[in-house]
Amino acid sequence: MRTAVISYSYTGNNKALACSVAKELSADHIEISVSKARTMQSIIWDMIFGRMPKVEPSPDIITTYDRVLFFAPVWMGHIASPLRPYLHYLKKHPNRYGFISISGGADGTNPKLKDDLKKRTGAEPIALLDLHIADLLSSSQKPARKDTSSYQLKEKDLKQLTDLAVGVIKN
Ligand SMILES: Cc1cc2nc3c(=O)[nH]c(=O)nc-3n(C[C@H](O)[C@H](O)[C@H](O)COP(=O)(O)O)c2cc1C
Repeated sequence: MRTAVISYSYTGNNKALACSVAKELSADHIEISVSKARTMQSIIWDMIFGRMPKVEPSPDIITTYDRVLFFAPVWMGHIASPLRPYLHYLKKHPNRYGFISISGGADGTNPKLKDDLKKRTGAEPIALLDLHIADLLSSSQKPARKDTSSYQLKEKDLKQLTDLAVGVIKN
């Protein structure tokens, strides 16, 4: 089975996880680039106005695979905007897909992800993982947004999250 790991990352965490999972699964890793690099301002506008950024490679790359695993951050409770063209493409060209994200989690889980995916692709994901940096921080107090947003995944985090993700994908 040919698997593509397709990732978008703003600050590097989802890219690092995607890289590690792709290696473990011997899958191709394809990184999404946006024609205009996102800024905090454009991220907020994308999310408020439902904008779909121009991306490379073209979403039709999906058709050359039997299964696609997307990795991207959660922004304002929803899947990061650079994934939208690919999810939209899946609606007309269905394929097996999963979504895995390492996000902040300082405000709890992101309960809208499943509906977001179903609405955009028209189908249920074969795997959905909403992983949180807040769970990786050893602290007696609940981590704040400032703690999670500046955190870069360490080798030990990557190992732990990769094992978890690969276990879910293989099942
Ligand atoms: C504008 C913005 C909104 C965010 N909203 C959420 C959110 O709703 N839920 C969450 O868990 N994390 C949220 N985060 C945190 C990111 O998901 C987190 O920093 C993630 O690790 C970034 O992934 P990346 O390094 O691959 O870009 C947000 C970050 C930004 C910049």
